[in-house]
Amino acid sequence: MSPLHVTRTLPEDATDAALRADVLHGLTITPKWLPPKWFYDARGSELFERITELPEYYPTRAEREILATRSGEIAAASGARTLVELGSGSSEKTRYLIEAFPSLAAYVPVDVSESALTQAGKALVAEHPRLDVHALIADFTAPLALPETPGPRLVAFLGGTIGNLLPAERAGFLASVRSLLAPGDGLLLGTDLVKDEEVLVRAYDDAAGVTAAFNKNVLAVIDRELGADFDPDTFDHVAVWDAEREWIEMRLRSRTAQTVKVPALDLAVDFAAGEELRTEVSAKFRKEGVTGELAAAGLELTHWWTDARGRFALSLSVAR
Ligand code: SAH
Ligand code: TRP
Repeated sequence: MSPLHVTRTLPEDATDAALRADVLHGLTITPKWLPPKWFYDARGSELFERITELPEYYPTRAEREILATRSGEIAAASGARTLVELGSGSSEKTRYLIEAFPSLAAYVPVDVSESALTQAGKALVAEHPRLDVHALIADFTAPLALPETPGPRLVAFLGGTIGNLLPAERAGFLASVRSLLAPGDGLLLGTDLVKDEEVLVRAYDDAAGVTAAFNKNVLAVIDRELGADFDPDTFDHVAVWDAEREWIEMRLRSRTAQTVKVPALDLAVDFAAGEELRTEVSAKFRKEGVTGELAAAGLELTHWWTDARGRFALSLSVAR
């Protein structure tokens, strides 16, 4: 069995400095805002896995359906020998791809969550003894240095995670993905599609309250890492559909007027009663928009697959 390689491109102190900078900036601007990557400590990754199993959270099941039925076509169209996956999490759906690619030599999962990466990596190494699994603990919004592995390369970005980037960030992100590719290499992109508001809001505000716990977990991360005294129980989880921008916005609403201390930043943050802290957007897409954003980054859309109910899309595009 080949060993699992794990490369940390995020030194602990750089992560700490980035968290401090993000929290300092986000809690001192109006409206208050926190970037989504801080959701994913070990507990956050675990809560996300529970979200993927909720009856209301359809994206995972819809994307899995596409992968289960189309992996053969994806493999034939791509011919990749290295599969790089950004924000790979549990790599659970990726197994359909790994099993469908006949000459796959290397799998490079990239994630900020060390716990999710090592857990997924160990399982994959055991299941696919001849596959070179090279896990990268890295931030996919920063420049990435990929290990030397055989081409062609396919970069997969699943789960609709691209929707968690703001439009301007998406353009920069797609350009940097393009820079990882040689002409003929591909990008496999999962995008959740615009649909009924009710279905969308329920997916981000489930009856069991798992998404609420996930959203509030970012406060627990700040408490632990920066010594803050956020009491997650004094905030309500809010998910709203912005019909103009076509995204779901997740927020945390302070129930009362309160002051939260963040000792590591020497900061005291006032919240008015009902004041909202924005934590994440999840943009929903249409085919024309995806095609255009890819083209702007030098990627030509060649395939577009949806689940049978048309809720979610996987697209394959090729670097020109
Ligand atoms: N691809 C999986 C997981 C999606 S959840 C699926 O489809 O189910 C989003 C994943 O992206 C999480 O595992 C999270 O840890 C990771 N992530 C979020 N922001 C990131 C960033 N800036 N850099 C690297 N990984 C990130
Ligand atoms: N990529 C997932 C999505 O946008 C992440 C996610 C699901 C999420 N539920 C969430 C992020 C709730 C924050 C809060 O669908």
